Amino acid sequence: MPKPPRDAFTTTFGVLVATLGSAIGLGNIWKFPSLTGANGGASFLLVYLAATLLVGLPVMIAETMLGRAARANAVTSFEILAPRGQWGWKAIGWMGFAAALLIMAFYSEVAGWVYAYIFKAVSGEISTIDPKVAGAAFGALVSSPLTVLAWQWVVLALTGGIIMFGVSKGIEAVTRRLVPLLFILLLVLCVRSLTLAGAGKGLAFLFQPDFAKITPAVVLTALGLAFFKLSLGMGTMLTYGSYFRDEQNIPWTATRVMLADLSVSLLAGIAIFPAVFTFGFAPSAGPSLVFMTIPAVFTSMPGGIVFMTIFFFLTAIASVGAILSLLEVPAAILSERYGLGRKSAAVLTIAAIALLGVPASLSQSLMENVKLFGLNPFDLFDYLTSNVLLPLGGILICLFVGWVYGPEKTEQSLSNHGALANRGLIRATFFLIRFVAPLAIAIVLLNGLKLI
Ligand code: PFF
Repeated sequence: MPKPPRDAFTTTFGVLVATLGSAIGLGNIWKFPSLTGANGGASFLLVYLAATLLVGLPVMIAETMLGRAARANAVTSFEILAPRGQWGWKAIGWMGFAAALLIMAFYSEVAGWVYAYIFKAVSGEISTIDPKVAGAAFGALVSSPLTVLAWQWVVLALTGGIIMFGVSKGIEAVTRRLVPLLFILLLVLCVRSLTLAGAGKGLAFLFQPDFAKITPAVVLTALGLAFFKLSLGMGTMLTYGSYFRDEQNIPWTATRVMLADLSVSLLAGIAIFPAVFTFGFAPSAGPSLVFMTIPAVFTSMPGGIVFMTIFFFLTAIASVGAILSLLEVPAAILSERYGLGRKSAAVLTIAAIALLGVPASLSQSLMENVKLFGLNPFDLFDYLTSNVLLPLGGILICLFVGWVYGPEKTEQSLSNHGALANRGLIRATFFLIRFVAPLAIAIVLLNGLKLI
């Protein structure tokens, strides 16, 4: 029985929206295109698809299932579900705690860039198809330490405020209405992009794989993206699962979220790559890619400034759902384990992120030469989370479900105690969770990190 003070999603649709709100965010609009561009296009997309289907989806099902079974935060859930004496499993939750803070440190910075771009769109500063001008506008923003820090703090204050004033329900309502709009705007962008001169080249880049470009490092990056995209391996989906209703069909919810999330990423890719080849941007531009190419597509269509402004506004809104879910991991741990009020837990979390966010935000300016393993703080936080912590968390979650929680309880949980006729599906999923996913992640991780 859930304890009375615990919040829970009240409708099946609400669950879907909140989970989708966590998955869809800057990962689709910003990370997916830049990584696809930098890692070879179609071949990367193919590996990413495989990672999402064979690893991402099963891990998502496993995580939400554990959360719902324990009805607690990411650390306590393992204390509740692990057999007596096996207290070590709760390390998964603490790893998630650390990953949430590290991701927020750079995610809130990129969200800050998006906020800044709303105003740049209005001013007409980024209405250009010239890669040099677009690059200079982006460079001017990220190399100004005070500006990026200020925007990051705006993002943190805003999302912290949402949690403090308990209006996350309201935000869910807003997200539910605006995210479909983002989808429509992406469709419009795609239509424009597909009628550009370089559309053929862009599509070929995105859909015609060149298998020679697949290296162990590329595979690890694709796997890391699959985890990041669906908010996996760090207790976010577990925490959200703990608010799921008993009647919720977990495998079906996870599948729908995965498919919707994938469509948004693909639309972003189709909007961006034709423009890259039409206007002469470099597909491997990295984090700046979206900030240069999307304005170029808008600039080449009527009403561009208006659409561009709406686009960055909607992207900012989409990032809110993801940020709220990231904050939920430490907030739930701190409030449920240490008796902190949700407000104090949120303030503490935001303060920690603001501190960690400083080096991330200064990585393109004052601290660009401060490097660890050859990476500046921004890249280090990104790499360490997506390519190390999340896959590691993923392996442990799979091992826990596959070998400790076991097949009977999994079947009970995922069939809602027999109410759902999905036995075959559960067995297939369990096989992936027990054998395929952990082995695949381990091999990719060890190879990608050059440990074997
Ligand atoms: N899934 C989000 C995105 O793709 O933008 C990012 C994210 C949210 C990652 C929550 C991890 C997480 F726990």
